[in-house]
Amino acid sequence: MHTHGHPDTGHARSHGHDHGHGHGHGQHGHEHQEGLAELLELDAEVLHDFHDGIFGWVRSHDPSGRVRRIADIGAGTGAGTLGLLARFPGATVTAVDADEAMLHRLAGNAAARGAGERVRTLRADLDAGWPAGPDLDGLDLVWAANSMHHMADPARVLADIRAALVPDGLLAMAELDSFARFLPEGAEGGLEERCHAAMARRREQDMPHMGDDWAATLAGAGLKVEAERRFEVALRAPLPQAATRYAHASLSRTRQGLADLLDPADVAALDELLGDGPRSVRRRADLTVRAARTVWIARPVS
Ligand SMILES: C[S@@+](CC[C@H](N)C(=O)[O-])C[C@H]1O[C@@H](n2cnc3c(N)ncnc32)[C@H](O)[C@@H]1O
Repeated sequence: MHTHGHPDTGHARSHGHDHGHGHGHGQHGHEHQEGLAELLELDAEVLHDFHDGIFGWVRSHDPSGRVRRIADIGAGTGAGTLGLLARFPGATVTAVDADEAMLHRLAGNAAARGAGERVRTLRADLDAGWPAGPDLDGLDLVWAANSMHHMADPARVLADIRAALVPDGLLAMAELDSFARFLPEGAEGGLEERCHAAMARRREQDMPHMGDDWAATLAGAGLKVEAERRFEVALRAPLPQAATRYAHASLSRTRQGLADLLDPADVAALDELLGDGPRSVRRRADLTVRAARTVWIARPVS
């Protein structure tokens, strides 16, 4: 494993944006990011096959097996990095993130899979510009999952990605359609639906680029969309063991981050789901894991 700090961005960013799950307004720094890292790892574990299907679809856009140099933009704990390494056995990945702790976990996850030698981590805040140097140039494939909406100026970052790709290179970009849901539809009088509506209100304040018209932004950055596909998953019992932990971690983040936007009765209901009583997520037999994301495949306009 090689770890490079980008010289201009020697520290992880900790500004007021919500980094990722849209739950955590008002929390900053270490604890908040650790909670996000845990959620990302649980998501990767519980939805492994779902993600692998997406990586297989990305791989199908490289029929001649040419891809060698990959970058994962806003790599987090490495779900994309590791998933792509499995689908592109001849490739190496440069994993870029503003957050050193994320990259540290990513490096550990890669090493645990015996893939350490094929991964390079690069700490960089992409809002400050595209890092110079050979690692992020002449790329065959750029993967950016749920990171573009975090950028202050996604159009600029996408133009930089276009410039960093080889002429027939690929950008594969994924954005969440919604955060994972765990209760059956309408359960607890529609509690989870109200939580997601509150999350959406918060995201409107915190993440103005969430839900952008990405096809238009890609076109504006000189990237021609070759394919766009929505992927959906709904896991039902018997769920993998980590699903309960994922549900608990996610609802607990909702409880912490959205309590001020929710009705007190909904906060109390969340507390019951998170506690040890009969309504606890740890005891429910009706838990599900439902998620959806859209993926775009684009190439530099020649
Ligand atoms: C929601 S997470 C997604 C992680 C991963 N791509 C995945 O799908 O599991 C977003 C990641 O983007 C990173 N990020 C946010 N803004 C960034 C920026 N300006 N430059 C680099 N990374 C950034 C965050 O630190 C976080 O790890």
